[in-house]
Amino acid sequence: MEALLEKLSKIGIIPVIRIDDAEKAVPLARALLEGGIPCAEVTFRTPQAAEALKRIAQEVPQILLGAGTVLSPEQADQAIAAGASFIVSPGFNPRVVRHCLDRGIPITPGCSTPSDIEQALELGLEAVKLFPAEPLGGLEYIKALAGPYTTMKFIPTGGINAQNLVNYIKFDKVLACGGSWMVNPELINAGNFEKIKTLCQEAMLNMLGLKVVHLDITEAAKEGNQGTRGYITLGTNSPFRARAYFERMGLEFKEEFNGFTVRLIQNP
Ligand code: 3PG
Repeated sequence: MEALLEKLSKIGIIPVIRIDDAEKAVPLARALLEGGIPCAEVTFRTPQAAEALKRIAQEVPQILLGAGTVLSPEQADQAIAAGASFIVSPGFNPRVVRHCLDRGIPITPGCSTPSDIEQALELGLEAVKLFPAEPLGGLEYIKALAGPYTTMKFIPTGGINAQNLVNYIKFDKVLACGGSWMVNPELINAGNFEKIKTLCQEAMLNMLGLKVVHLDITEAAKEGNQGTRGYITLGTNSPFRARAYFERMGLEFKEEFNGFTVRLIQNP
């Protein structure tokens, strides 16, 4: 469970997918991967969900693959058999949660109230989906919940988009954000995977908010600092996610670049 949560947290965005045609699953997964979001929650809202999971698990194993809208223990088993590595549900169903925990399957059930969260804590969960995030009150609601429930991490989902995502992700109790804005079913049905890829890239770059905040060449030279030609300071909304992003792109993040010292700092 811990390993899964760490992976989700480093990616930061969970595309919530409704798929009508399993033929679209593999090109869709490739678009997510190329768009910089190697994660998918395929929801059991269509009869094609299990087949879509199976194809993605087989053909695009780089995707961290979850099954969403899992409403029964049987559906959880079906999802795992198809290749899902984690389970998500819109609400807190103790039967589903217990079943997954007994089988050692990571689950992030939906919670919307303090009582839901206490049930989750009772069963030993460290993170839950917060659904539906925006109608419930958004970040303010999560901050209020984080007051008493100091250890709980949240995956807000419902009404999140490329713009409001940034507010959520800056809050350290937010493990990741889920949403369908970059995988709109109309785009999937139309086979518009280029657009999906672009929306993923936009979401990821928006979330990270990378910018050069300081480029200092002369100071280091004045200091006669051997081996350092200067400093490049990159601001980001999330230093550990930015580091993970660079690594996924095949760029091992070194704090040294062409003789420059590179620093990642938190945007204000
Ligand atoms: C979900 O079940 O997680 C939601 O349908 C995703 O919410 P969104 O469509 O508002 O992003």
